[in-house]
Amino acid sequence: MIVTDSEQSAAKICADWRAEGLSIGFVPTMGALHRGHESLVELASSSSDRVVVSIFVNPSQFGPSEDLDSYPRTLEEDCNKVRELGASLVFAPKADAVYSSGFSTGVSVSNVSDGLCGAFRRGHFDGVTTVCAVLFGIVRPDRAVFGMKDAQQVAVIKRMVSDLRLGIEIIAAPIVRESDGLALSSRNQYLSFEERQQASTISTALRNASDLALSGEKSCKVIKNAFLVALEHSDLLRVQYVETVDPDTMIGVETTEKRVLLAVAVFAGKTRLIDNILIESEV
Ligand code: PAJ
Repeated sequence: MIVTDSEQSAAKICADWRAEGLSIGFVPTMGALHRGHESLVELASSSSDRVVVSIFVNPSQFGPSEDLDSYPRTLEEDCNKVRELGASLVFAPKADAVYSSGFSTGVSVSNVSDGLCGAFRRGHFDGVTTVCAVLFGIVRPDRAVFGMKDAQQVAVIKRMVSDLRLGIEIIAAPIVRESDGLALSSRNQYLSFEERQQASTISTALRNASDLALSGEKSCKVIKNAFLVALEHSDLLRVQYVETVDPDTMIGVETTEKRVLLAVAVFAGKTRLIDNILIESEV
C-alpha cells in the first residue's frame, strides 16, 4: 500500500491503474478510522480492483465554533487498519495543498442540503461537496462508498454526481453500530462515561419509533413524538432535531406510506451525535 500526501502522485497512480483497465473504488474519510469506515473499505474492495482511501480533516466543512482543532488525527493507525483490509493507496493531503492560494471554487447543492444538519451547520455541506469534487477529480474513481450514518451527505453527494454528470457510482453502506446500538463515530471518543451510557438510548428510541411505524402507525408526528418521549429521562441528552424525510430528496414527509428516513441529531453533553433509521412500511 502506498501512502502519499502528494496530489500529483495520487493522480498519477490512479491514472496508471485506469490505463491498465483496473477499476477504482474510493472511500473519502477524515481519519480516526473505526469499524464503520472499515466496512466501507471492505465494500469498496469487494467491488473494485483497487481501493483508494483519502484521509483529510477538511477545514471548510467545520463551522467556526466546531471541533476542527480537536478532531482526532491518527494517521499511522489509520494506515495500518486500511492496509490490512487491502487498500492500495492512502491519500492524505495537507490542508494548504488542497486549498492552495487562489482556490476560488465552491460546489453547492441546494434543496437536499438545506434541512436537517444543513439548517444547523450552515455551509457544512458546501464544504463537503467542494472537497469531494476536488478528491473525485484527483482520484477519478469508478465508484465511491459513503456510509448511511450520514444519510443526508449520501443524498447530497448523489445529487452532485448526478447534476454534474461525474459518472461515479455512489454506494451507500449500512450503519455500523456498537453492541448496544450506538452508531460508531469518531466523535464518540469525546463522550464521558455517563454520556456514553445515555447515548445508547438514541438508537433504541429510533428502533422503537420505527417499530411503531411498522406495526401500522402512519402519522410521522406520532413517530417523531415517540422518539422525543423516549429520550425525556436522559438528562445528558438534548435533541437538536428529529425529522421524517424522503431519503433521496430530504423533503419532509407527514405519513409513513412510503420509504421514510427518521433522522435525528442529539447532543450528549457538548458532543453532537447523528443517527437515523430507514422505515420501509408495506403500502
Ligand atoms: P468521516 O466522518 O470520516 O466519515 C467517512 C465515511 O465514513 C462517511 O461516508 C461516513 O458516513 C462513514 N461512516 C462514519 N461512521 C459510520 C458508521 N458508523 N457506519 C457506517 N459508515 C460510517 O463523512 C466524512 O468523513 C466527510 O464529510 C467526508 C465525506 C470525508 C468529506 O470530508
